[in-house]
Amino acid sequence: MPRTENDTWDLASSVGATATMVAAARAVATKADNPVIDDPYAEPLVRAVGVDFFTKLASGELTAADLDANDSGQSPVGMSRFADGMAARTRFFDDFFAAACAAGIRQAVILASGLDARGYRLSWPQDLTLFEIDQPEVITFKKTTLAQLGAAPTVDLKTVAIDLRGDWPAALAAAGFDASAPTAWIAEGLLGYLPPDAQDRLLDTIGELSAPGSRLAVESVPSQTVADQDELRERMKESTDQWRSHGFDLDFSELVFLGERAEVSAYLREQGWQVEATPTNDLLRRYGLEPLDSDEGFADVVYVDATR
Ligand SMILES: C[S@@+](CC[C@H](N)C(=O)[O-])C[C@H]1O[C@@H](n2cnc3c(N)ncnc32)[C@H](O)[C@@H]1O
Repeated sequence: MPRTENDTWDLASSVGATATMVAAARAVATKADNPVIDDPYAEPLVRAVGVDFFTKLASGELTAADLDANDSGQSPVGMSRFADGMAARTRFFDDFFAAACAAGIRQAVILASGLDARGYRLSWPQDLTLFEIDQPEVITFKKTTLAQLGAAPTVDLKTVAIDLRGDWPAALAAAGFDASAPTAWIAEGLLGYLPPDAQDRLLDTIGELSAPGSRLAVESVPSQTVADQDELRERMKESTDQWRSHGFDLDFSELVFLGERAEVSAYLREQGWQVEATPTNDLLRRYGLEPLDSDEGFADVVYVDATR
């Protein structure tokens, strides 16, 4: 279903299902030979959501090889490369938080936390407060499921159940956020699901709430001209067509907002952030994973690490 202004979801539907999908990819990546990440909660969380395709993928009943095999050899992106991409992405944000904590930051915010289990699987300084923001059904599901699994947070974890298109700064403040303290922010797998102007507002607001010494890590998605959009929609569809025969029923092209959007690095530099930008292929190489062919699905995503 196409996006609407105030649409909502759970983890089995619409944008919420993308959180389940990336958690399934983390489960696959966790079981890889020489894994780049270790997310023991990814598989049980995906199982609990109960979408058959993702459960089979997370449990290994359906392998990346099953999904990628076709007459021509490989589907345009392929699940195996998607799992590598998600492994590198997860590790980038894990490393970002480790560096921010080592630099003395004691307040962290995960924007659009989905099934991210960093509040349960990473080791954090004792005096740090971690805030997670996502839609209410997403927040409640993860919290309840992890409690049922017997998992306890490894940090002072505060959840903020609100849409990021609404007044989330007020909700964050009500949860105890201190705008005078340096903060480490992450936006992982989020910007593409926000319209371009909402992306600008989000970055502006983060800037306003960031005391000196704050850091921000963002997965930045490319801008598309009107001419590029049809081709991109077609590529997104082709990437997942093959998975459909195994029960996959998401259409990413309906969930993301395409169009011209600000280039995050330049936007943040203008706001006084010092920015380091790492293209996907450099990130894959950093963690010992094969780079993508330059025309593969998410090769033009850039990982931004900014400091104020
Ligand atoms: C691809 S998932 C990424 C989840 C998580 N960051 C990760 O990498 O595992 C996208 C997430 O963005 C959240 N999201 C997207 N738009 C949102 C909005 N307007 N308000 C709150 N959450 C949003 C979804 O609920 C979902 O959890």
